[in-house]
Amino acid sequence: MLHPVICIDGPAASGKSTVARLVARDLGFVYVDTGAMYRAFTFLTLEAGYDPTSRERIRQLLAKVDFHAEIRNKEIALREGKRDLLPCTRLPEVNAAVSPVSALPELREYLVNVQRKLRLAAPLVMEGRDIGTVVCSDSPYKFFIDACPKVRAERRHKQGERDNLAARDQLDSSRAAAPLLRAADAILLDSGAADARSLADLIVSRVRAARQPAPTVP
Ligand code: CDP
Repeated sequence: MLHPVICIDGPAASGKSTVARLVARDLGFVYVDTGAMYRAFTFLTLEAGYDPTSRERIRQLLAKVDFHAEIRNKEIALREGKRDLLPCTRLPEVNAAVSPVSALPELREYLVNVQRKLRLAAPLVMEGRDIGTVVCSDSPYKFFIDACPKVRAERRHKQGERDNLAARDQLDSSRAAAPLLRAADAILLDSGAADARSLADLIVSRVRAARQPAPTVP
């Protein structure tokens, strides 16, 4: 059986992770950060000394890597063998290389498969770039969180990270494989105009209303 999934997409530093975590906690669903998966593979690519734009190299990495994405305490643990990969995902060199690595179709196919399998295990709140358009395009619960570039750049600066958002946005939106796009049926939310708690409340109330059983006619 496929469990329900709430899809939350949006560009870098749009605040989607904060909102997605709140929604997952309110509903008791598992929180899935698909960006962390692309980041983990970017780290492994850099660690191996591979060219982050090489399809041949990513094929080699996928063939030999012992990668696991497992549900632990309502979140996803990412491991290579026994090693926890999450601490490696926010390094500045990963920020700089993640968009080229994520554009490689071989990696996307592999990770989309990993992400779809999680729906067999539990209800999910999944955030990323292509969740509503590709990974779980059949889901009736789709949201796209955006904010103007200035608001997003300020947010990332406050997080203390070095990150060229404009370059990443450009690459993520223009790549051939699963570009960043709002699904036609996704509800657009502006995180520059409302705080994360209000956006999460809105998503939770919409999802709860849609999941109410239809009243029975006596
Ligand atoms: O947290 P932030 O918004 O900076 O980015 P992220 O969600 O961690 O995603 C990092 C990068 O992974 C993005 O810039 C995309 O290149 C890629 N990504 C993707 O291609 N598809 C996804 N479903 C999630 C992330």
